[in-house]
Amino acid sequence: MCGIVGYVGGQSALDVVVAGLKRLEYRGYDSAGVAVLADGGLATAKKAGKLVNLEKELKDRPLPSGSTALGHTRWATHGGPTDANAHPHLDNAGRVAVVHNGIIENFALLRAELITRGHDVVSETDSEVVGHLLAESFSSCGDLAEAMRQVCRRLEGAFTLVAVHADEPGVVVGARRNSPLVVGVGDGEYFLASDVTAFIDHTRAAIELGQDQVVELRRDGVTITDFAGDTADVRSYHVDWDASAAEKGGYDYFMLKEIAEQPKAVADTLLGRIDVAGSLTLDEIRIPAEVLREATKVVIVACGTAFHAGLIAKYAIEHWTRIPCEVELASEFRYRDPILDERTLVIAISQSGETMDTLMAVRHAREQGARVLAICNTNGSTIPRESDAVLYTHAGPEVAVASTKAFLTQLVACYLVALYLGQVRGTQAGDEIRAVIRDLAEISTAVERVLETMEPVRELARSLAAKNTVLFLGRHVGYPVALEGALKLKELAYMHAEGFAAGELKHGPIALIDEDLPVVVVVPSPRGHSVLHDKIVSNIQEIRARGARTIVIAEEGDETVSPYADHLIRIPVTPALLQPLVATVPLQVFACELATARGNEVDQPRNLAKSVTVE
Ligand code: M6R
Repeated sequence: MCGIVGYVGGQSALDVVVAGLKRLEYRGYDSAGVAVLADGGLATAKKAGKLVNLEKELKDRPLPSGSTALGHTRWATHGGPTDANAHPHLDNAGRVAVVHNGIIENFALLRAELITRGHDVVSETDSEVVGHLLAESFSSCGDLAEAMRQVCRRLEGAFTLVAVHADEPGVVVGARRNSPLVVGVGDGEYFLASDVTAFIDHTRAAIELGQDQVVELRRDGVTITDFAGDTADVRSYHVDWDASAAEKGGYDYFMLKEIAEQPKAVADTLLGRIDVAGSLTLDEIRIPAEVLREATKVVIVACGTAFHAGLIAKYAIEHWTRIPCEVELASEFRYRDPILDERTLVIAISQSGETMDTLMAVRHAREQGARVLAICNTNGSTIPRESDAVLYTHAGPEVAVASTKAFLTQLVACYLVALYLGQVRGTQAGDEIRAVIRDLAEISTAVERVLETMEPVRELARSLAAKNTVLFLGRHVGYPVALEGALKLKELAYMHAEGFAAGELKHGPIALIDEDLPVVVVVPSPRGHSVLHDKIVSNIQEIRARGARTIVIAEEGDETVSPYADHLIRIPVTPALLQPLVATVPLQVFACELATARGNEVDQPRNLAKSVTVE
């Protein structure tokens, strides 16, 4: 939700900021804007729509160059995507510029106060109040960092703020509460950004900004305090991937690149977690073994695709550990007053580590005494920082809004956690665990094989571009795969798509089936789950009898389904519980190709943003 960049240093600040915004555009693309300190004043440009509109504006009406600038790419919350609502927002004298990510919950009150004091509030946003408040505070204290601290103490809600003041050239000030902000440390230059991709071209040295901290950047250093002005503890770290990881690398879309990166992402997520003897070593889970042994239940909280990973994890956790496992949408979790105590293990799954719904669920769980283990892809993000332990997925940066490689690596991490629980609780023998680990180690090659056979899936997708609805069915772990297939299609192709447990069909949804309706069916392996397999074959016949066009995903060698499949997509043989790691891939390709055929923006679907930092 909204991307923010700030810069002070020896380069053209505007160029650095615009390049950074390009990298952050996945966070929101309703409008974009910049401000630069130059010639003793402040120059700004902002435009509704994607960043290209702003770039065109800057070409047509160039701003003066300077060494201090900030920028913003917006995902609209308060006020539509117009030029006026675009950031930066200024005070009435045009001396302060501020950009904001998050929601200021008490903005209406602050806005009313400002109007009473004679301020002219010109946008519909919650953010603009901050510009006016900063100007007021600065006029009495003459120090932008101090003004920021004073203002932050008055704000309620979630915010990352970055500001500059024309009377303090060479200074950029940032603040964060419940919303991300990272400092990039260069040589005589400093960066502020919503995430490190914005400055990875310039430096891989970063400082994590903590909750309720204010940072002041100058060319010769950085000062970090809390909102009261006391010096704050900071954590520096090195980003372990480079700029090329955040580039498209010859692909038309990030999503295509990220789909193709899945074999490596899966292998990387296993790396260092299996010892030479083929056993599991998860030292990073710092929750004491006795706590895990005594846990009476596991609760998984997550949103969207990560929630689907959680649904699959439930099957593995309950099967391998026999601990009851609940999976809950993070946005619903704390509002139903869930039963949690110190013997509950909560697993929070999040690619970004910034999803507000999941973060709030984590906080609620910890307040109730539960231990929280985060499964996360983004080093240094808020959810792992606020959890008791973290298992990082090693997918590398995921830029496309639709989650692909993050999902597969979340699954791998969930399987590892489930096995680890089985190991410490003694519900799985060492050789059973090693056998699953051997199977997991082969998944990377299996995903590679799936990717090599995707041309018919792309063809099929193109042939369905004019359809309005696609249904997805699955059973057992194939059910969350069906949900994920439907989510991908909704968000990318803007089509009506629904995922069902195949057994539920006869309880209502079968009424949706009509002539030529495409129905994707994820078929469980005939080995191990033969009962389920037989039942889903019956389900396929039931829908086919009603005229549906059946698109069947089945493992190699499963010939029983062939007579009932209008289109057959083969996936490699895997153990039943691991099948989602291969069965999901064709559905990602299918959705991506359908979106392309319908002329949609694959990496930046309408109305969405990569990182959802509002509730
Ligand atoms: O960063 P997170 O994993 O917490 O994000 C959760 C969801 O917002 C995310 O998975 C979303 O559903 C994706 N766009 C789906 O492709």
